[in-house]
Amino acid sequence: MKADGIKKVLCVLGGGSTKATGLWDRITKSLKENGIEYSEFWGVQPNPLISKVREGVAVCKDPANKIEAVLAIGGGSVIDTAKGIASGAKFSSDIWDVYLRKAAPPEEPLPMYTVLTLSATGSEYNNCSVMSSPEEERKIGVFFANRPRATAIDPTVQFTLPWRQVMCGAVDATSHLMEQYFSRPNETDCSREINLALQRSIIKSMIKIKANNEDYEARANFSWAVSVALNGLPRLGMSGDWNVHWIEEAISAIDGRTAHGEGLAVVSRSYYKFLWKRGIAKEMFEEWAESVFGTKNVDEALKKFDELLDSWEAPMKLADLGLTEADIPRIVRVEQEQNKMGVRSPLLPLTPELTTEILRNT
Ligand code: NZQ
Ligand code: ZN
Repeated sequence: MKADGIKKVLCVLGGGSTKATGLWDRITKSLKENGIEYSEFWGVQPNPLISKVREGVAVCKDPANKIEAVLAIGGGSVIDTAKGIASGAKFSSDIWDVYLRKAAPPEEPLPMYTVLTLSATGSEYNNCSVMSSPEEERKIGVFFANRPRATAIDPTVQFTLPWRQVMCGAVDATSHLMEQYFSRPNETDCSREINLALQRSIIKSMIKIKANNEDYEARANFSWAVSVALNGLPRLGMSGDWNVHWIEEAISAIDGRTAHGEGLAVVSRSYYKFLWKRGIAKEMFEEWAESVFGTKNVDEALKKFDELLDSWEAPMKLADLGLTEADIPRIVRVEQEQNKMGVRSPLLPLTPELTTEILRNT
């Protein structure tokens, strides 16, 4: 920030873990030592809200506050909110219109920086921001014009994470990789190999982190793999799929209590069996089974995938998220409405009937 000539920054934070871990003291000390003034903006919640982004935009737009950049200190929810604020500050009307594809993103948002406290989303390395509006039953991602200019990742900061969040992070990154991997057949071999290696690396690190939450090497490797998982590298030349994310975002849109990684775990368990049974992406399933799970038998690999999620203590069924069969039509409706705003899967364009079947099988 100092090198960029920033004189005053808006620090965007969550519900208090940053203070509890002592990180906030370290950051404010460093800002003071470098002569950078700051304002504090606390209270971003998981499944972050567009209303919070609007509050932050108002702070940045007030000339009296002299905000020149945004510093996110937290996980994906904080970073995504900071991105919304940085773009909203340079946008003449409501930034939610950009999420809803009613307007193009501003070309020159405020610069933003991140200090990552939870490896999960890859938001620290990309230009995506996912935001919720519960009143409208929406949870939708958008790509802004900028990525964070710099990101600090100190694995020791993550020693304090509760297991639920570690699990959610591993499921999220694995889902990013699998949804990029299961694309049209015979797309770039190099990207596929990078992708498969990252999946294996996450599995290895998670065994060590489960045994010892403070294993520095495992945490460092995990953070690196998770950040790369959604920085664009493993999807170069790949068409991608994203149906698991589309369905999960609809679940979180109707029920903000569901953590992103929990919803993904439930949908993934059903979705990949569903694809395989229909003979979709056959060659890719065979390559994945052998590379990630060491077997040529895809059914066995899918069983091992389930067991992997069990070993991470990931939820299994909609019921584990506190939802029932009666919620399925609502999830399907929201998924269909939101899916229209993005790129549809080349493998399996979701219809209401298909999404219903995938959810019923959870
Ligand atoms: O709010 P605080 O008190 O900071 O506590 C947080 C929060 O309750 C806690 N936490 C974070 N770091 C901690 C810690 N607790 C102890 N020690 C630490 N070091 O963790 C809880 C969850 O935080 P959150 O930021 O919500 O989790 P995550 O990083 O998994 O982010 C999930 C959000 O990112 C979106 C998801 O949809 C979801 O809204 N995604 C963003 C993407 C992107 N921008 O590229 C892509 C993803 O697919 C995803 O959709
Ligand atoms: Zn995700």
